[in-house]
Amino acid sequence: FLPYLFVAAVAYLLGSIPFGFLLVLLFRKEDIRTKGSGNIGATNVVRSGAKGLGLLTFFLDAAKGYLAVLAAGWILRWFGGMAAVPQDAAAIAALFAILGHMYPMWLRFKGGKGVATSLGVFLALSPVAAVSGLAIFVVVLLIWRYVSLASIVAALVFPVAAIYVSRASRTSMFEVVIVLVPLLVIVKHRQNLNRLLRGTEYRFGKSREQSA
Ligand code: G3P
Repeated sequence: FLPYLFVAAVAYLLGSIPFGFLLVLLFRKEDIRTKGSGNIGATNVVRSGAKGLGLLTFFLDAAKGYLAVLAAGWILRWFGGMAAVPQDAAAIAALFAILGHMYPMWLRFKGGKGVATSLGVFLALSPVAAVSGLAIFVVVLLIWRYVSLASIVAALVFPVAAIYVSRASRTSMFEVVIVLVPLLVIVKHRQNLNRLLRGTEYRFGKSREQSA
């Protein structure tokens, strides 16, 4: 049990590093939470006018998720010398990295929507499904130009792809995580969903006035 507790704690701490918030604070002396959608994610950093920082936020948010799942393997090996990482430990790491990103204790538990971090954890956990989700994301974004819509559709497609590609080897913890994480991502997008339904969502690459 102790190794799994460690895996969860390390993953939460890694996931809770709010890169978007930190980069904008450091390089622009601004609080990203007061801009645009108020989200700390890459999309809102780009929207705030900092394209390069947005790209870096995307990369670092994804990387911390990927690293959290890798770290699960290192921790288990450190504890017991296990050669292969049980899928359960990797799935727990993925879940807690997402929880860290969405509910970071450093920002009073108000974090991001988990899209880039989900890509990171799932690239480590179920790479083929993660790339399928990413492909759907890109297609939806190119057609409709809403990052939120692309994220929601990718979150719906990912579990189906992950269940399909992992049909030979799947633990129940893995099953819970591949469904729960996309569900959390969708719940985190409820304001975006409202805006999409009302036709007031921000279009990617356009200002609010142009987007309505
Ligand atoms: O990655 C989050 C994205 O799907 C929506 O972000 O800032 O438009 O709420 P935002």
